[in-house]
Amino acid sequence: MENMETIDDQLLERLDAYVETLFASQDEGLLESLKAADSAGLPSINVSPSQGKLMYLLAKLAGARRILEIGTLGGYSTTWLARALPAKGKVITLELSPRNAEVAQANFERAGVADRVEIRVGAGADSLKKMIATGEEAFDFVFIDADKPGYLEYLRLTLELSHPGTLILADNLLRNGLVLEDDPADENARGVKAFNEAIAAHPRLESIVLPIYREQIDGLSISLVK
Ligand code: DHB
Ligand code: MG
Repeated sequence: MENMETIDDQLLERLDAYVETLFASQDEGLLESLKAADSAGLPSINVSPSQGKLMYLLAKLAGARRILEIGTLGGYSTTWLARALPAKGKVITLELSPRNAEVAQANFERAGVADRVEIRVGAGADSLKKMIATGEEAFDFVFIDADKPGYLEYLRLTLELSHPGTLILADNLLRNGLVLEDDPADENARGVKAFNEAIAAHPRLESIVLPIYREQIDGLSISLVK
């Protein structure tokens, strides 16, 4: 991400570390999954521990039994979400890359959540369309964190797999300020800017975007389906 504006990175970094130490300590399963993802050469674009903890709490607050994730990568956020489930709860996580899915599956086994997580490999939109066509039960909580130009389509399809009260979250919505450009040159920023405008105006959603610090400022949305 291009750095558009200067902020006091050092203070943000120290505060983030302070909060993480107090509130978002990671167990062996989470730490090992980051190491395994790194060894496998996956990019370190997983959510931060604090964001993982926030999503874990929101999933618990929503009483989520059925969680959908779009974009598994190495399964780090998936593991946080799986830990928020009650007995018999389930996370279905969609991943384009068979290689990422393999790394994630091994991570779920190591973290002891494999019994609660199912990975579906393929293009996210295809998997979602299949779920809609086969009458998959609605989800209580959805986390969108895949290719940014696909976000609008993921939202449209996710709404068909939601019920009143479903929480829909999406990652990477502020892009260190790139969304402030009228017509962002960066295609990822364009994708998330269109998504932000859609969730702000959508008649079925009540939404907010929170700034999230992870080396740079990015954003996480929380939308409640009416
Ligand atoms: C990128 C993707 C992410 O989901 C993220 O959290 C950070 C960066 C990226 O593609 O650059
Ligand atoms: Mg992300």
